[in-house]
Amino acid sequence: MKITVAGTGYVGLVTGVMLAEIGHHVTCFDINEEKVEGLKAGKSPIYEPGIDALIVSNLDRMRLNFTSNRDCAYAYPEIVIIAVGTPEEEDGSADLSYVKMVAKDITKYGKQKELIIVTKSTVPVGTNQKIKKWIEEDLQNGTKFDLVSNPEFLREGSAIKDTFHGDRIIIGSESKLAASVIEELYSPLNIPILHTDIESAEMIKYASNAFLATKISFINEIANICEKVGANIEDVSTGIGLDNRIGPKFLQAGVGYGGSCFPKDTKALVQLAGNVKHKFDLLESVIEVNNNQPLLLLQKAREVVDSFKGKKVAVLGVAFKPNTDDIREAASLTIINELNKEQAIIVAYDPVAHLKAKDLYKQGVFFTNDIREALTDATLAFIITEWDEVKEFPIEKYVEIMETPIIFDGRNCYDLHKAKNSGISYYSVGRQAVNPLIINS
Ligand SMILES: NC(=O)c1ccc[n+]([C@@H]2O[C@H](COP(=O)([O-])OP(=O)(O)OC[C@H]3O[C@@H](n4cnc5c(N)ncnc54)[C@H](O)[C@@H]3O)[C@@H](O)[C@H]2O)c1
Repeated sequence: MKITVAGTGYVGLVTGVMLAEIGHHVTCFDINEEKVEGLKAGKSPIYEPGIDALIVSNLDRMRLNFTSNRDCAYAYPEIVIIAVGTPEEEDGSADLSYVKMVAKDITKYGKQKELIIVTKSTVPVGTNQKIKKWIEEDLQNGTKFDLVSNPEFLREGSAIKDTFHGDRIIIGSESKLAASVIEELYSPLNIPILHTDIESAEMIKYASNAFLATKISFINEIANICEKVGANIEDVSTGIGLDNRIGPKFLQAGVGYGGSCFPKDTKALVQLAGNVKHKFDLLESVIEVNNNQPLLLLQKAREVVDSFKGKKVAVLGVAFKPNTDDIREAASLTIINELNKEQAIIVAYDPVAHLKAKDLYKQGVFFTNDIREALTDATLAFIITEWDEVKEFPIEKYVEIMETPIIFDGRNCYDLHKAKNSGISYYSVGRQAVNPLIINS
């Protein structure tokens, strides 16, 4: 089929590449010309394991092309997939201006007789009806169009695997014919498909993210209590997760969730509920717990060194999770901002995202992709992203290269016995401090 994907971010690019790989003819359109030029040359604008090879091979097979020209993008595709960003507005609601821009482009540049418009961007319930209205307002050429809500569930860092081997595909539509065309489109993937109405499809995405965020904040609160009562969160998580009704996933305590989805989608769902006069107390608490979680780690550090001023502090991990260069809403930024305010000398390490946050800071923060450089002569270190490079960094090296080996591990990367034997002072989440130490500032 002839498909245009609007937006070449994490979702649009991965979707476009996947559809080309399974045999469709895909045009990826983006308003960012620089991104498009790079993509035409086979260069991915995002770090996502496995994506570069798929871009190059599908460009070579002439099944994939990139454009910033609206005529080329919208004139004759049978399907347009909307995968543009829906960032958060100041009040927490979703900004739909990019989605509206695509709807307007479709009506202005489309020349086809029939078209299926698929919304993959995460949009509040009711948005597809808005898209319908935006299109109908301007439609002049009599194109018959149908809408399909098809929310995306990929995770950055494993987006290619998730797209080819997802748990489910949700297809929400008022048109049986359009729904069956989209089912056919994805059929080579052999992923279970659930057909719903449009509103339920839109809600499934928000409810899924809200549920996962709730699991994370729940286990983090249990971890915070474990620290105070002398329990070990890892044993507690294992014990909970062995219950089939609960399962072991999303029960790893830490400094909280970040990224471009959970923070904004939880806030948007609170707003959405508020719009229909429902106060979503549970989700509001989930958000509050998450906002607090990095601050609790900092608080632990403050109790050990009563001032950060002038001290070299290493921050290990900038990306919001491993295997991505995405730093949106990353816990590292909360930690770095606070340390920066308190005039620490911060050296932040990340194997991939080290340059992305550089422009956010005028002074006092340095970025490196060399973990040893970050740690050498540091007074203390925060572990914020559980990259393999961090987990595999030999624990004895902290003693060897830091001025004082004091570690605040927000991802529980190290075994407590090994930490004890190595001699480092080690504070983690939901576990007892190892070799605790008070030093004078
Ligand atoms: N990133 C994820 O892990 C993930 C997972 C599931 C769902 N989502 C949702 O998918 C949507 C896209 O997310 P993302 O992370 O890929 O965003 P992104 O910010 O990485 O990319 C969005 C892209 O859209 C482009 N764009 C903006 N306006 C455009 C327009 N009018 N026409 C064409 N391109 C335009 C931007 O230039 C950018 O390249 C969001 O609604 C997000 O919530 C994201």
